[in-house]
Amino acid sequence: MGKDTIILIGFMGSGKTSVGKALSKKLGLPVLDTDALIVEKAGKSVKRIFAEDGQEAFRQMETGVLEELKGREGRYILSVGGGLPLRAENRALLRQLGRVYYLEASVEALSRRLEGDRKRPLLRGEGSLEDRIRKILTDRQPLYEEAADQVIETDSLSIAQVAEKISCLAGSLRAS
Ligand code: S3P
Repeated sequence: MGKDTIILIGFMGSGKTSVGKALSKKLGLPVLDTDALIVEKAGKSVKRIFAEDGQEAFRQMETGVLEELKGREGRYILSVGGGLPLRAENRALLRQLGRVYYLEASVEALSRRLEGDRKRPLLRGEGSLEDRIRKILTDRQPLYEEAADQVIETDSLSIAQVAEKISCLAGSLRAS
């Protein structure tokens, strides 16, 4: 039954939250988001957690949220923070929780979508946004692929089309 959960992973700006909402509407399932669960629990924004407690504390909270979800009943959709699959422990937990879809997007598409973002601490710093994304994505890409059951190439698709594709894939799995 655990494998019925639809899990969305991918870089910041890859559309996980929007696709999660679209899928939730389409399939009539609740959608959860690890960032939102952490913010609720910590009582402060992701930006503040990074600034006051550091990235490692945030990563620990991500693992904590996944551990708690192991006890959750019923089918749902889960979108996770872009850095959550970096920990091997988290990749193993994701596999236990459900079927993992990697929303893959090019550096160019991500740069367009993330321009002007003020909420994501990792995008701040030296160099152009595009260079920063390229650098982080190059490190993460193999881990996203390792974590994924299925890779969805999103550059040429709308949010609705990505949701449709995942809903078909998840539906055919349930039928088999
Ligand atoms: C992060 C992605 C963010 C959030 C935090 C760190 C990352 O989530 O968890 O800012 O390391 O890629 P989104 O992918 O939902 O933006």
